[in-house]
Amino acid sequence: MASTLLITGASTGIGAATARAAVTAGWNVALVARSADKLSDLEAELGESAMAVAADVTDLSAMEQAVVRAVDRFGALDAAFANAGRGLKTPGTENADPEDIRGLIDLNIMGVLHTARATLPELRKTRGHLLLTGSAAGRKHISGSIYGATKWFVHGYGGNMADEMREWGGRCTVIAPGMVDTPFFDEPKPDKLHPEDIADAVVFALTRPARADVREVYVMPTG
Ligand SMILES: NC(=O)c1ccc[n+]([C@@H]2O[C@H](COP(=O)([O-])OP(=O)(O)OC[C@H]3O[C@@H](n4cnc5c(N)ncnc54)[C@H](OP(=O)(O)O)[C@@H]3O)[C@@H](O)[C@H]2O)c1
Repeated sequence: MASTLLITGASTGIGAATARAAVTAGWNVALVARSADKLSDLEAELGESAMAVAADVTDLSAMEQAVVRAVDRFGALDAAFANAGRGLKTPGTENADPEDIRGLIDLNIMGVLHTARATLPELRKTRGHLLLTGSAAGRKHISGSIYGATKWFVHGYGGNMADEMREWGGRCTVIAPGMVDTPFFDEPKPDKLHPEDIADAVVFALTRPARADVREVYVMPTG
């Protein structure tokens, strides 16, 4: 039976590319994001191996329901990719809108925690794998970056979860991309990484033997 991966932020960018790469590698995918229309287009493209589940990761009960639906459909959950995230409209502690900062923290931190909390009971059953999208901005200091600080949380939490999950044979990986050409940016970045480059990194971590936990994959554009 095929393994199943739940992906948040699956409607565009890195999450959508990862869904395509995972299905090509033989996985089932549960696609989570808010845009039901984009998710159902991707579901139609990927066929029987994919299920669209529109949900907001900042809503814990919606995430719990998404996990129930994925397990009902595919029988188990082997991996979860907490990937949904965003930046600030205007950066900087003094210039950013406090409500925008709150929304950023709700998504980039609470959304990751909700995804982990909702999926861990199922991952424990399969000795499964949790993957988180960190960032190059979560590995080095970037002047005044609140977005980067949310990714430092992801890197710290990912390492802590790797230690917790190994107690029962589970694995945790932080995927740390540099700049990727996705709708994260208003302008195209064709000379930077492509979302498929990060999707390949996720599939690499997922497909290592169970004895090997790839703790971090750090991918920077060459140019
Ligand atoms: N692009 C880069 O250079 C880069 C570099 C390092 C790290 N990252 C990280 O990579 C991750 C994916 O970003 P991306 O570059 O692929 O950008 P993207 O194309 O804008 O993707 C963001 C995804 O998150 C989803 N999302 C946003 N709010 C959500 C919510 N409340 N609930 C559920 N889903 C939500 C979006 O879908 P809906 O709007 O449909 O909900 C979308 O699918 C993010 O964590 C980002 O911080 C990106």
